[in-house]
Amino acid sequence: MDSIPANRRLWNQISSAYQHEHDPQIGATPRLWGMYSIPDAHLHALGDVTGKRVLELGCGAGQWSRALAAEGATVVGLDLSEAQLTAASRAMGATRYPLVQGAAEQLPFAADSFDLVFCDFGGLSWAPPHLAVPQAARVLGRGGRLVFNVASPWFEACYDEAASRVTTTLQRDYFGLNTIAEGDGATSYQLTYGDWVKVLRGAGLIIDDLIEPRPELGTPNGYNETDPPDWAHRWPAELLWVTHKP
Ligand SMILES: C[S@@+](CC[C@H](N)C(=O)[O-])C[C@H]1O[C@@H](n2cnc3c(N)ncnc32)[C@H](O)[C@@H]1O
Repeated sequence: MDSIPANRRLWNQISSAYQHEHDPQIGATPRLWGMYSIPDAHLHALGDVTGKRVLELGCGAGQWSRALAAEGATVVGLDLSEAQLTAASRAMGATRYPLVQGAAEQLPFAADSFDLVFCDFGGLSWAPPHLAVPQAARVLGRGGRLVFNVASPWFEACYDEAASRVTTTLQRDYFGLNTIAEGDGATSYQLTYGDWVKVLRGAGLIIDDLIEPRPELGTPNGYNETDPPDWAHRWPAELLWVTHKP
């Protein structure tokens, strides 16, 4: 299914409200992962990027990209939404980096263009992974890494749509997650653990780590209500995959 037009429309519509609500948290300091803004210094997922060619898939307002550019990476920020790219352009720091409009499932780059492709709830949450992962693998050079953070199947399976919160009750089938309707045809994507392994290995990638970010007690979730409030301290809310191209 082609969710590109609907996802582009959705993000153009919500960009301004999204940045108003979330930028103060996700843009506050460099290298914060996910819904709980856990520092990469605690998770050790990305490593040193100095001098590396880096692509952020679904960069939004570029909170991550601008940080890595300032650290000396040669960064490209790709996003589907022109409104999000405008926000990234406005928020760019002294170190300029190029922004490209495009879709994670149809990357407009040659093979072997990057040393690191990454995203945090970006293109690998909003494009079909069976298309986007091979694209990411294609544009990586040998030894290059694909690192990305997505919601966990636990989190999605326990999400109660009617109550708009994550619960301790299974609300839908684990094996039926696949696509999540985000309204008006917009779609996000969720794989089972087994399907992530299949898609990553199928694209020729080696899985180096699967980090399960665990927020400290009392860390707020900037995006979703959870019941109980310490849900993500008890169960994994996110999956942070660390892979490389041999
Ligand atoms: C939740 S934001 C992630 C960006 C940033 N890490 C953040 O947390 O705000 C999701 C981003 O993915 C972008 N996006 C949606 N579908 C996409 C696609 N198919 N390819 C690339 N980017 C996409 C959206 O425009 C949006 O900027």
